Amino acid sequence: MKVTIVNASPRKNWNTAQLLKEAARGAESVGAEVEYVDLYDLKFTACRSCLACKRKGIDEPCKCYWKDELSPLLERIWKSDKLIAGSPIYFSQPTGWFRSFFERLVFPALSYDDGSSLLKGSVDLDVFFTMNVPEDIYRKSYEARLNEYFEPARLLNGTTRLFPIFDTLQVNDYSKYNMAIFSEEHKKERRETVFPNDLKIAFEVGAGRR
Ligand SMILES: Cc1cc2nc3c(=O)[nH]c(=O)nc-3n(C[C@H](O)[C@H](O)[C@H](O)COP(=O)(O)O)c2cc1C
Repeated sequence: MKVTIVNASPRKNWNTAQLLKEAARGAESVGAEVEYVDLYDLKFTACRSCLACKRKGIDEPCKCYWKDELSPLLERIWKSDKLIAGSPIYFSQPTGWFRSFFERLVFPALSYDDGSSLLKGSVDLDVFFTMNVPEDIYRKSYEARLNEYFEPARLLNGTTRLFPIFDTLQVNDYSKYNMAIFSEEHKKERRETVFPNDLKIAFEVGAGRR
């Protein structure tokens, strides 16, 4: 079982990364081969619409022909059994780095002949989203949009599951920032009472028990 874990937060040790590290521990606990990648360490571009992946006569379908530091990771993900990704929500969407990554991951799998998938195998996709807003705002304003955004993930031929994590702690000391819309007391309380359970869920997801 090969599991690739991709952190699409620029912060390597904060909410998203902590969840993904627990997922990695979970996957390792059941003997999976795990690769963990901080996406912001890679120099890469979004899909450049070179359309090389749609050319007639190419040697390999479902291949991204644009060469940069993302290309080898994409090859490894297409050969994985599972991709566990994580992204903070920025302006009610996954981060720009995540969206660039997702374009490159999914577009080569799309057949422009009939809309089917060109990927030979299947990759199950689990995505953790961390965000400031509480659950009710997520359900009202974000959930439908994110579900729609992930519709093309069907081209990976596996399951797609989204795990939203609400009302995260954004900084350790709110008194040092102009962040008056947030209650530090409330954020800290959630961090102590709710986030540990989110980490447990991430472990279970990694271990394939959830
Ligand atoms: C540029 C930027 C935009 C953000 N936009 C939103 C937003 O639209 N909705 C939200 O709930 N949180 C938003 N946040 C907060 C982050 O999603 C939240 O703090 C997240 O848990 C950060 O993840 P990290 O700790 O892994 O970096 C934003 C943060 C930044 C830096």
